[in-house]
Parts: sequence; C-alpha cells; structure tokens
Amino acid sequence: MHLRRNFALALFAGGLLAAAGTPAGAQARLFSPAARQKAEALLKQMTLDEKIGQLNQSAGIVMPGVSTTKPDDMIAKGGVGSILWQMNVKEINRLQHIAVEKSRLHIPILFGFDVIHGYRTIFPVPLAMASSWDPSVEEQAQRLAGQDARAAGIEWTFTPMVDIARDARWGRIVEGAGEDPFLGSAMAQAQVRGFQGAKLGPDSVMVCVKHFAGYGAADGGRDYDSSYVPEELMRNVYLRPFHAAEQAGAGSFMSAYMDLNDVPASGNHWLLTDVLRKDWGFQGLVLTDAFAVKSLQTHGFAKDPEDAAYKAISAGVNMDMASLTYSQNLAQLVKEGKVSEAYIDQMVLPILEAKYDLGLFEHPYVDESKVEAMLNRPEGLALERKLAGRSMVLLRNQNRALPLSKDLKKIAIIGPMADSTRDIEGGWTVEGLFGPGGKNHPVTVLAGIRNKLGPGAQITLVAGPQPSKIYPGLVDSITGVKPTPPPTPEETANWIAKAKAAAADADVVVAVMGETPNMSGEAASRATLDLPGIQEQMLEAAVATGKPVVLVLLNGRPLDMRWASEHVPAILDAWYPGTEGGNAVADVLFGDVNPGGKLPVSWPRVAGAEPLYYNHNLTHEPEDAPEFTSRYWDMNSKPLYPFGYGLSYTTFQFANLRLSKTRMTAADTSEVSVDVTNTGPVPGDAVAQIYIHQRYGSASRPVRQLEGFKRIALQPGETKTLTFPLGRNELQFWDPQTKRWLVEPSAFDVWAGGDSTASLHADLTVTQ
Ligand code: NOJ
Repeated sequence: MHLRRNFALALFAGGLLAAAGTPAGAQARLFSPAARQKAEALLKQMTLDEKIGQLNQSAGIVMPGVSTTKPDDMIAKGGVGSILWQMNVKEINRLQHIAVEKSRLHIPILFGFDVIHGYRTIFPVPLAMASSWDPSVEEQAQRLAGQDARAAGIEWTFTPMVDIARDARWGRIVEGAGEDPFLGSAMAQAQVRGFQGAKLGPDSVMVCVKHFAGYGAADGGRDYDSSYVPEELMRNVYLRPFHAAEQAGAGSFMSAYMDLNDVPASGNHWLLTDVLRKDWGFQGLVLTDAFAVKSLQTHGFAKDPEDAAYKAISAGVNMDMASLTYSQNLAQLVKEGKVSEAYIDQMVLPILEAKYDLGLFEHPYVDESKVEAMLNRPEGLALERKLAGRSMVLLRNQNRALPLSKDLKKIAIIGPMADSTRDIEGGWTVEGLFGPGGKNHPVTVLAGIRNKLGPGAQITLVAGPQPSKIYPGLVDSITGVKPTPPPTPEETANWIAKAKAAAADADVVVAVMGETPNMSGEAASRATLDLPGIQEQMLEAAVATGKPVVLVLLNGRPLDMRWASEHVPAILDAWYPGTEGGNAVADVLFGDVNPGGKLPVSWPRVAGAEPLYYNHNLTHEPEDAPEFTSRYWDMNSKPLYPFGYGLSYTTFQFANLRLSKTRMTAADTSEVSVDVTNTGPVPGDAVAQIYIHQRYGSASRPVRQLEGFKRIALQPGETKTLTFPLGRNELQFWDPQTKRWLVEPSAFDVWAGGDSTASLHADLTVTQ
C-alpha cells in the first residue's frame, strides 16, 4: 500500500516539476517567475514544522464545533498558513501582526472567506447571475465584490462554485450556474476574471474553484451524499466548468466532501493528481472543504487521523481546512518515511507563490481607515440594481399582464417575502452568517414598489406567516434563529381571509413568495418543491377574487409551480436578487427594465421528476413514437419550463440558420449564423442559443447540447446576425471506449433559437 502510494507521490512531484519546466504545449505559468524564486528561497530557510504550518488553514473564530481557542499561539509559532471565517478588520490586522512580527520567518497569513455573491453590497445569487446568460454580469459583480473583500482584508475567496446541478432537490443548486457545462464554463471563467483580473496581483482576490468534483450529483439530491458518476460523465459534463476555470487561471481548487465512486473527493488521487495536475497541468493549490481531511475517517476511508492526513496529502491536497489533521500528523508521517520532505516542499510551494503574487509580503495589513468608504461606494448599489434586473426570468405573462402601469392606485402585496430584508439577498451574506453588523440596507419588494410609485399609491401588505425550515424545537446553529411554529388552523384561515380581502380591494395583487434563504444552500436539500408554509393557499385566495395577480418568486431552486403556471397570469422569477433587489423587481414589474434572463435549469413539475436535464440521451424508442415513450404515466415527463427559457415584453424571431460549411473534416470549423429580429413593440434582449446533436458514433450523445450563446439588445424591428464557431471544442466528446477526446465522422443536427426546444434546424456532416 505504502509502496504504491509513494510511487504515486513520486509521479506527482515529477508532474509538478515538468510543469515548472514548461514543456512544449504546457500552459503559461500560473504564478510569476519572481514569486517562484522567492518562494523557493524562503522554503530553504523553513523547518519542517514551519512548512507544515503553511499547509494548515485555521478557523479565525471561536465557535462551538469549530474551534475552542484563538489561533494566536499557533500563528506565533509559524503554524498557520491561512485563516478562514474572520471578517472583522481589526481582528484580521491583529492576527496578521502576530504572523508578521512574532513568527520566526514573518510569513503573512492568507485570509480566506466565502465571498459568494458580494461582500457588503450583495449581488444576485449565482443561479440568478447565470440566468442572465451574460458572463459580464458575473464578471462585473465579482470584480466589485473582490475589490470590497480585498479592501477589507480578504485575499482568497471560496468561489466560484461550479458544480453542475441536475437536481433541484439539492440545496446547493442556488450557489452554481445550473445544469449545463457550456453555460457553467462561461460563468466559471467570468468569475475567475472578475476576482483575479488578468493575473493574480496585489489588487486581486484568489479564487478557489469548488467543490472538486461531482458534488452536485449527490444521490437523491441529498447534500453530502455519495456521487456515482462514470468517467465519461465526469469528463463530458461535471468536470467541464472546472477545467474551464483552471484554463482561465484559477489559483486554487477546493476538494469536495462526498465520496466519488466510493473514494472521498478529498482523498481522491485520480481527481486531485491524475486529472487536475497531470491532465490539466494545474499549478495552483488544493484546499479541502471544511474538516474534510478529518472526515476521511468518518467516511470509513481512513483508519485514523494519521491515515487521513496521509491519504489526503498523497491524493494531492495542499491545505487542510480547519481540521488540524495535517498539523497534528504530517511531521510523524515524514518521520516514519511515509511522506518525503521533498514532497511536502512541493505542497508548500504554490501557497508561498500565491502569497508573493498577491502582494502579502509587501502589504500584509488592511488600511482600516479606507474600508468603510470602499464598502459603501454608491456605484456598488447602482451596479447591483442593474445586474439584478438582468438576472430575472419572466416565466409567464398571460395577456400582457406585465408590465404594470405606474398609474395604479391600489396595490395589494401579499406573501411573507414581500417586506423581509432577510430574504431579498439570499444566503452567504456576512450578515446572514454572522448576524447584523454588515451595515447594508436591503431593499425589499414592498419598498421597491413604494419607491417606484411614490406616496400617491395606496399599498396594503398582508405578509402572512414566515415559513419555517427548522423543525419545531430546533434552533438554527449558525444564525441562532428560533423556528416559527406553523400557524394554527384558525390563524391560517385568518391570513387567507386577509389576503382575499386585500386582493378584492386592490387593482392589482403582487404576491412575493418562495423560500427563505436558509431553505436552499448547504445542508438544505428538500424532498418536495412546494411553496412552503401557507403561501400557495394565500395565492389561491388572491386569484379567486378575479383580480390580476403577479407572482414574484424569491427562491434558490425551481419550485412546484403547477398550479400557478395555470392560474396566475404573470410569474417573475427574481431568485434572490440582492441588496437592491426590491428596486430591481419594481424596475421589471413596471417596465423600466425588460426582462431578458433565461433558465439555467430545466424547471421540473414535481420533485419526483428529478434529476431532470435537457441534455439527456435518447432512449431505445423514438421520442415521437405513439407508445412506450412516456417516462411517467402519471405526469407529463417534460419540464414545466425548459432549459434556456424566459419571456420578454417583446417577441423575437430566429431565422436564416446557415453554416459556412455543411460538410467538413474533423479538423475544420464551420461558422453557424442566425438572424435574430425583435418583432415586438419595445426594445429588449434576446439570448441566441445554439444546440447540437451527434446522430451516431462510438457512443450515444445527448439529444441536444448547448455549444454557443449570446445575449443581445435589439430595438423594435431591428435584426442582428450572430455567428458561432462549431469546431473541435464544440463537437468533441470524451469517448468512454477509447478514453480520449474525439471528433468523429458523423451527422450532426444544429439548432438555433431562444431556448432548448428551438426548432430552427440545419445539418452538418463531419467526414474523416
Ligand atoms: C463548507 C462549504 O461546503 C464550502 O462551500 C465553504 O467554502 C466552506 N464550508 C467554508 O466556509
């Protein structure tokens, strides 16, 4: 066992050295040559304990279950390379002073935190930003978030989460870009650019691409559960956004919690060394997810903590997040000869290089006098409002129920999300995690509508009871929030009567409903997708009055909209739109912004339809065969709303699909062109989407797969021609039989249009 592993270690080290020598075809160096030189020189002065210290990321807070002591003493001994979960600027400086002034070699600490969709100004959640189908939305948001975070002492963010999510039951679907590898790759790269800039430098924040890999394929959509994903599906789908992020220059990766094909990701040599380092040539560092080294024992994979440290480091994990297993066991492993000091050096090197390139040695401290001004930049809020407007998806709009007139006099606003500042920004906010103190002022939908209509409008709010995720008796361990007991039958009847009365008395009803942010995210999977609590009953009561009803969803996943999709005239999915979310919703509701977002996920009818994704394979029966095609006999098997779908206040026509080459060799590229026209009354944004299908070959290929998209603005009557390449990158797939990327001679279908059901079609033949 040890022999085999040591052999693997030697190979891995060889891989790193080879990358350093930049052999032909290898990518440019991730870190600068100067950083490498300085890191190597520093490494020579370090004791083994100091090296192991760099491989340790300690918790910066004292919290039950996290850490019982402050890390001061360890830092002074050079035992801490990085700190996480500490956002107090004074505390960051205090800890940094210990590292720089008291530790023998004065190596600064790298401070990491989950800056997921904003730091002080909170942008739409990642699933929402992916709905913009505009990578510049992610890039702009993450640039601002990165600038804020860096000014406040955070140099490393545990973003982007690029896990493919094909199952809305999985709570973490909200943190990623949805189900598609092509869209997900574009969003992943945009985030790397946003945070890191063109190169890691003193103004950038290093990203940590997570959760490597296959985490979104959790059995049953249950968070942390095992994933079973064959290599071809890993390569063709799950790994694609990771590779894209790596190619964009991501400085670090985070190894996931779960078992992948029975081997925990944080001890998975195939993932962390064979794929990441050897195939892709990654030169950065791998950090585990929190406590994941220690958990290798809980998984039943490691015998004891020493074995856990051994398995993690030999698999290719550089840094141990919060479990102290490296700190407590690596020296012993070196002493026993199971891990060589040369290998430890290889693991330390990228950590030091990152610190040099990020400018920590020159500027280790936060300038406390500048932080507040930076975090409260007014341009942040203006940008947030704009990007939120670009991220919303109009799911339904019967008889042009939207946009609403600004002359409306009486509006009933119903639903528990309507005026809740806690619910508009979604999860992963500093405030949401560590209580008030973030000092931003989220704008609710009620406030946004008031701002839009001014004092003349008469607005009645019937909030109803806040739905509660937490089972009675339990307290949320992070926020300390106590559960709201569910309403009694009398209270329910009362709220419904109030909603009905307010609706009956209004010109229009705006229902703001969905999930509270803690209902999605980590450890927040669901077995149903219902609107929680009594929201649907309140909605039905409002619709029963015959008044026009608009449903605004605040949600982190698709919800069961079967009833609403038939009875509520307009449904706007705002996801969690962020700090200015209420203003952005009002912009869309009243027509100042024309919605142009599209779904990054297939919207299921019920939870039982999951996992549901558009890029599935064909079955043995033709799709249109009269029988034996239906996948469920008790429900339509198709999504309620397809991947790529979203309405606008105008209409678009796609026409004139043509290929520059209809026949070509596998080495060629054909240019696909399509004309898009705004055929409606107002300016609006269309998203042109290109899908392909390989009809036959050495493996079955998905019925459709996205291989190009572009969001464009069009004036009424205006036509634009868009062109997309179809070449090796788009046509290739990982062949399970030969285990390599292939472009095969075959016939290909090509479609262009506004969603994944597009019918405009062309043929492409690829020859030998
Ligand atoms: C656990 C989560 O899985 C991960 O996404 C996050 O980055 C770490 N905790 C650190 O907060």
